[in-house]
Amino acid sequence: MLVRRLTTLRQVRLSSSIANHEPAGPSVKTPLPGPNEQALRKRMDNHFQTISMNMFVDFEKSFGNYMVDIDGNAFLDVYQQISTLPLGYNHPELVEFARSDPMITSTVSRAALGAFPRSDFPDAIEKALVSIAPKGLKNCQTMLCGASANEHAIKQAFIWYQTQKRGGKAPDDEYLTSCMEQKLPGTPNLTVLGFQGGYHGRTMATLSVTRCKTYQKVDIPAFQWPIAKYPRYKYPLAENKAYNDAQDKECLEDVELKIKEQKEKGHDVAVVIAEPIQSEGGDKYCSPQFAQGLRDITQKNGIVFLVDEVQTGGGATGDFWCHTHWNLSTPPDIVTFSKRMLTGGYYYADHLRMTEGMRIFNTWVGDPAKLLLLTKVVEIIKRDHLLEKNREVGKHFQSELSKLAAHHPNLLSTPRGMNTFAAIDLPNTEMQGKFTKACHLNGLHVERCGAQSLRFRPSLVYEKKHADLTIELLDKTAKQFEK
Ligand SMILES: Cc1ncc(COP(=O)(O)O)c(C=O)c1O
Repeated sequence: MLVRRLTTLRQVRLSSSIANHEPAGPSVKTPLPGPNEQALRKRMDNHFQTISMNMFVDFEKSFGNYMVDIDGNAFLDVYQQISTLPLGYNHPELVEFARSDPMITSTVSRAALGAFPRSDFPDAIEKALVSIAPKGLKNCQTMLCGASANEHAIKQAFIWYQTQKRGGKAPDDEYLTSCMEQKLPGTPNLTVLGFQGGYHGRTMATLSVTRCKTYQKVDIPAFQWPIAKYPRYKYPLAENKAYNDAQDKECLEDVELKIKEQKEKGHDVAVVIAEPIQSEGGDKYCSPQFAQGLRDITQKNGIVFLVDEVQTGGGATGDFWCHTHWNLSTPPDIVTFSKRMLTGGYYYADHLRMTEGMRIFNTWVGDPAKLLLLTKVVEIIKRDHLLEKNREVGKHFQSELSKLAAHHPNLLSTPRGMNTFAAIDLPNTEMQGKFTKACHLNGLHVERCGAQSLRFRPSLVYEKKHADLTIELLDKTAKQFEK
C-alpha cells in the first residue's frame, strides 16, 4: 500500500504544481474525533498518554497542503505539523530523495555528529545551512530541536562572556574546582533577559525565558532571570503610530532598567533573547525600530543578542529569516532555528567561536538525515522560487484576511502577518477554542496561539487557490457563529 502510494507520488515528480495532485477539497465525513480516532486513542492511552494530542494522521494519504486523518477526513492544513513542513506533506522529490543511499544509511546508522560525522556532513552544512545563512553569520551548529538549539546557544554565549572577563584565557584551577560545587567563579551569576509573552522551549533553561502559558511553567523551578516588556501594538499600525512608538520607547527603557537592576545585584545580563514575532505568545510583532533599539542596547553593554527564529525561520515570512526585515545596522550575534529547517541549530558570529572542544556537545548533535533532507528542501525552494511565490500569495492572503475581518467585525479582528505567516483574533479564549473546532469540522486545520488568536502557518507550496479556500472556510465558519 505504502509502496504503491509512494510510486504514485514519484509519478507526480515532474508535475508543475503540487496542488494538481491534492484532494479536490476538504471533506469531513465523521464527527471529530471519528470512530477510528477514538478507538486508537483509547488503545494508546493505556501506555502513552493522549491528553495533549490533537489527532492521529494518516501520513501515507496526506499530500501537499492536505492532511488526512485516520477516519479518512481530509483537511486543508494551514498548521502543517506545528509549522514544521517546509514543502507540505510527502513532496514527491523529497520522497524520491529519501530513497537515496545517503538518506538510507544516515537514517539506519545515525551518526553521532559531534564526534563521528559522515564525510558528506561538510557538504550538507554548506548546502543546507551556509547557503541560506543570515547576513554576517557564517558559523553554524546543529542541534536536536528548538529548545536544545536555544539551550546550547545560551551556553555558548555564557562561555564567550566569561572568556572575555578572563581576558581571553581558558578557565584556571580555581574556576575548574569551584564549578564542581556550583560556586563562584566557576559557576557565574549570569542571566538571560527575556520578554513577557516569549516562548523559547520547555527544557529547564529555556523554560526560564518562556513566559507564555501558565501550564508550561507551573511546578517547575526556574532561573531567576529578568523579564522585560515586549511591545503590544494597536492595529491598524499606521493609524496608531503615536501609541505604538510610545510602546517601543517604554519597552526599550524597561530593558535598560532590567539590565541595570541585574548589574546592581552582581548578576550580569549576558544574553538578550527575543523572537522577531512572539508566535506561541499570540503573534505579537515588534517594529524594526524596537529591534534596532535592542541591538544598540546589547552592543552598548557587551551583551549577546540572540534572535530566536525557531518558528519564524525557514521562509514563511517572505525571507529565510524574519529578522532580515528589521534591516539591523549590525547582525544579531546568534540566530536559532528548528521546525521548518527540519533540524535544530543556530548560526553565530565569529567572535563566539570557541577555543576548547567538548563544551557544546551531546550524543547526536542533530540528525544527519534531516540535514541531508534540508539540502534538497533548500534546492527546491531556490529552484522553484518559492520565497518569491510565497510573497505573492502572502500579499493576497493578507488583503483577503483584512476584508474577512471587516465582514465579521464582532467576531474577527486584528488581521496581521508577514506574507503567509499570519494571524487573526477572536474576542476571547472561549471563542478561540470554539471557532478552531468549528473550522476543523469545516475542513480547515488551523490552530491557536496566545489567548485569543488563530495562527496560519502554511507551507511554501501554499498557492493562491489555497489562500482563497482558507478565507472561504473561515467565512463559512464565521457565518455559522453569527446565525
Ligand atoms: C520561538 C520558539 N522557540 C523555541 C521553540 C521550541 O522548539 P521545540 O519545540 O522544537 O523545542 C518554539 C516552539 O514552538 C518556538 O516557537
